[in-house]
Amino acid sequence: MINTENDKVEIQDLHLQAFGEEEGPVIEKMTAEFLLLPETISINVYRGLRIAGNILFSPFKLDDHPEKKCFLLAPLGVLPEHQGTGIGKELIEKGVYYLNHIGADAIFVLGHPSYYASRGFVQAKVLSPHHELMKHPEAWRMLEVKPGSMEGIGGASVAAEPIMDPMFWDTSGRPE
Ligand SMILES: CC(C)(COP(=O)(O)OP(=O)(O)OC[C@H]1O[C@@H](n2cnc3c(N)ncnc32)[C@H](O)[C@@H]1OP(=O)(O)O)[C@@H](O)C(=O)NCCC(=O)NCCS
Repeated sequence: MINTENDKVEIQDLHLQAFGEEEGPVIEKMTAEFLLLPETISINVYRGLRIAGNILFSPFKLDDHPEKKCFLLAPLGVLPEHQGTGIGKELIEKGVYYLNHIGADAIFVLGHPSYYASRGFVQAKVLSPHHELMKHPEAWRMLEVKPGSMEGIGGASVAAEPIMDPMFWDTSGRPE
């Protein structure tokens, strides 16, 4: 859970590789900024001595419900040579376990709808930051960590600074 400076470099490089040439550099920069914040939760899965996968969670605020303890999942990455072997699933499970332990209500994510649907994430009613850019609402998903905690909860939201740039929320370039 506590990352050394070496770990941080390895994690940044991992996301650079996982997301590839086009997306990788901006995700690497976002990761570096997240890892500077003490409130960021970082979880690794190792294969041998190497970090094979990493997931970050950051505090996520609901405008109308400041009492809710929510987190944004971003990024989630697995080294290309280890993709499809269950590490992504393991990282999400570890994250949910840890967030449950610290009393979290829910996790939000903007990602591949089918991937997150198969891990229990449902379409979110809370609006994403820069909601006006959300062309694929099915990609904006939520998982209750505390069952029932998000019933009837909606409204606007704000993510942590490293991911507030509108480019992260513009889904217009994604396939239908
Ligand atoms: C997406 C990613 C995190 C998944 O981790 P993983 O360890 O490869 O995935 P797992 O082995 O846990 O799960 C494999 C399952 O995910 C599916 N899957 C993998 N990548 C997917 C993608 N891009 N879109 C949809 N489904 C995907 C597989 O088909 C498989 O489905 P199954 O469980 O029904 O058989 C990983 O492939 C990755 O780092 N990709 C590049 C970075 C990225 O796009 N991250 C953002 C995630 S929103």
